[in-house]
Amino acid sequence: MTPVVLIAEELAPAALDVLAHDYDVRHVDGTDRAALLAGVAEADALIVRSATRVDAEVLTAGSGLRVVARAGVGLDNVDVPAATARGVLVVNAPTSNIVSAAEQAIALLLAVARHTATASAALKAGRWQRSRHVGVEVQGKTVGVVGLGRIGVLFAQRMASFGTRLIAYDPYIQPARAAQLGVRLVGLEELLRESDFISIHLPRTPETVGLLGEKELALVKPGVRIVNAARGGLIDEAALAAALTEGRVAGAGLDVFVTEPTTESPLFAFDNVVATPHLGASTAEAQDKAGLSVARSVKLALDGEFVPDA
Ligand code: NAD
Ligand code: MLT
Repeated sequence: MTPVVLIAEELAPAALDVLAHDYDVRHVDGTDRAALLAGVAEADALIVRSATRVDAEVLTAGSGLRVVARAGVGLDNVDVPAATARGVLVVNAPTSNIVSAAEQAIALLLAVARHTATASAALKAGRWQRSRHVGVEVQGKTVGVVGLGRIGVLFAQRMASFGTRLIAYDPYIQPARAAQLGVRLVGLEELLRESDFISIHLPRTPETVGLLGEKELALVKPGVRIVNAARGGLIDEAALAAALTEGRVAGAGLDVFVTEPTTESPLFAFDNVVATPHLGASTAEAQDKAGLSVARSVKLALDGEFVPDA
């Protein structure tokens, strides 16, 4: 019988073409739990992005599953230990969208520094407002990178060309590696106190959730601008709203939220918050790379071949 590949979120057409050649490709809305549980029962492979929760219940329902593929980086929506315990291989596409995610963080940082979104909205609504939208330059400022992994490094390399001073907090990185990149490794507290801009590039883990909470936001340099294009919940949203209200945080660029999808958040009420709906990986290039990478990995897994790191 032709193996069934169940696709629970949007996948690049090029990847669908590759898969359709060899498999019975089926689609389901991964956020529709009942449909997902029914669909996965007949699947040999399941492909998701970030919106589909692949937990023990889904893995149990998918008794014939051989591989779960995450068309992107973060694996926080997949219960990897539960999959491993059932002999289900989990693969992702760890480099597919890192350039796009780093570029999105920079886009948000610049938009916050220059009021791009509010000024554009005001102008389109008929208001030519120049003095209301005076921003700040990035050159000469201290930029704190929280998490100096693949995306954090790309972000830092690009921010260096703006003439910034770069510091980073990442206890798992060697200082020599950071120094090579022109980045000084510091403790979290020092990063909070010194940074004019902070950008977060961490995975969501029990250790990182709420890493920037009320206590940490009390330590920031007044007027700091914060970007989170990594995962919702790394910054405590209520604490961020409080710091924005007090003016201690001058602005925030947010691509990710504790609850997704969402169209309602107290953070959306702030003019100095630029918010995008989890678009970090939403480029043609990243989607092609992620889709083709997982299509290749799924094919290898279903053929019983070794699946190398993508
Ligand atoms: P990575 O694994 O290469 O880097 C993560 C870094 O965080 C590592 O260097 C690690 O040492 C560090 N880290 C882990 N725990 C830490 C802690 N407690 N304190 C400080 N540092 C810690 O991952 P990456 O490719 O850079 O991606 C980072 C995250 O970005 C992903 O896990 C994903 O959640 C998110 N992401 C979001 C989008 C988007 O669309 N917005 C796109 C891609 C990735
Ligand atoms: C990721 O972790 O790769 C991102 O969140 C992008 C996505 O899945 O859309």
